[in-house]
Amino acid sequence: MNQPRERWSSKTGFILAAAGSAVGLGNIWKFPHMAGQHGGAAFTLVYLVCIVVVGMPILLAEFSMGRSTQRNPVGAFAKLAGNNNWKWVGLLGVASAFVILSFYSVIGGWAIKYSWMALSGQFAANAATPDGPQLAYDAFISKPVEPILWHLAFMGMCVLVIVRGIKSGIEKTSKTLMPVLLVILLILVVRGLTLEGAGEGLRFLFEPKWGDLDVQGVALALGHSFFTISLGMGTMITYGSYLDNKSDLLRAGIWVVVLDTGIALLAGIAIFTAVFALGQDPAGGPGLIFVVLPSLFPLMPGGTFFAFLFFSLLLVAALTSAISILEVVITYFIDEKGWGRVRATYTFGGIIAVVGIFISLSFGNFNIIAPLTDLSFFDFMDGLSSKYMLPVGGLFTALFVLVKWGVPNFIEHMNVGSSGFPVPAKAVMAAFIVSALVVVYIIFESVIDLFG
Ligand code: PFF
Repeated sequence: MNQPRERWSSKTGFILAAAGSAVGLGNIWKFPHMAGQHGGAAFTLVYLVCIVVVGMPILLAEFSMGRSTQRNPVGAFAKLAGNNNWKWVGLLGVASAFVILSFYSVIGGWAIKYSWMALSGQFAANAATPDGPQLAYDAFISKPVEPILWHLAFMGMCVLVIVRGIKSGIEKTSKTLMPVLLVILLILVVRGLTLEGAGEGLRFLFEPKWGDLDVQGVALALGHSFFTISLGMGTMITYGSYLDNKSDLLRAGIWVVVLDTGIALLAGIAIFTAVFALGQDPAGGPGLIFVVLPSLFPLMPGGTFFAFLFFSLLLVAALTSAISILEVVITYFIDEKGWGRVRATYTFGGIIAVVGIFISLSFGNFNIIAPLTDLSFFDFMDGLSSKYMLPVGGLFTALFVLVKWGVPNFIEHMNVGSSGFPVPAKAVMAAFIVSALVVVYIIFESVIDLFG
């Protein structure tokens, strides 16, 4: 007989788990380097608008779909649609989880390595020569074995959380780690703001220079709004499916978006104040936090301590997101295929870990997809998920609410458990239409970019 579905033990537990999913490498690694390369404040503003206009409606749709069906993404689409055609959208989500976690975990592994390097004082040694940090980074990521071991360690942590289930695994981990994350981040923000010349960094992040924002930046900001709130692949459907009818979904959604956005901005403040105060280039690209920051920490008082805090922050953020990605796959196999949690977790944790090994190798001499494209396996998987898979998943979620589930049904369900904030149906419909149109634009831009 089927066991009763597990549940979050409290509303706060659910909000922290969902916020833990949202806040991750996207906030602390990707957002700052994208903003750094695409116009700073101008990029930030586009990003904020996207979060509210595109992200919020889809986030609420996912929560509602999960809670009303008590199913994984595939089961949720199938049950609400009453047929099997829409289940493909859910399957696309499960596939996206495979793609994302395989590269996410490699970077999670780097965070463990860099926390260790910070603690053991290696940043100071590397920073003794001007291109020391860059050389150390290049040498580390291209090694054939070491980064793989860190990646496996990171995947191992995810597996250990997920086998314990919703309450004692995901919820307990998020409830412990999210407050830790906030405290660390606040300490780093204060450190950044008290550096001489920090104002430059704030101006960069908050004073828009529209001329610096290109079309590619706009498309990236849109795509990133999905990635950063974990949308378009059913993560929030999965987490919503462990809720009972007492939670206020609108309130939870607002909390998740505010925490996610607030933490991305705080990470931006911590990073850019230091980058500008110490006279570095903000457009450092993906190496911004692994090359530029390690060269800066040794220059500030207490550098070893702050460096260790920063990379622990990255690790904590990555871990609470990675578990949510793995949970999408696991819930699918439990609900739809009748697998036990332990078997599903070890099997799919293992398979994803193997794909991740090839991603890690693509930073060195072995790129498994070299015969197909010029991109590295890492860039391919990153681009495939954030430029195509998540936006397509999000588009179909918006369309699903509009044409299949129906806006009135969605609103009726979303309002269960709420204190009754009246949401006008027309406004909701408009929000989903705008959201869908914007996503069509993102996909269009990505395709143009691909062939241009
Ligand atoms: N939101 C996470 C981040 O910003 O790093 C990444 C992510 C997690 C994407 C879960 C998608 C997902 F389903």
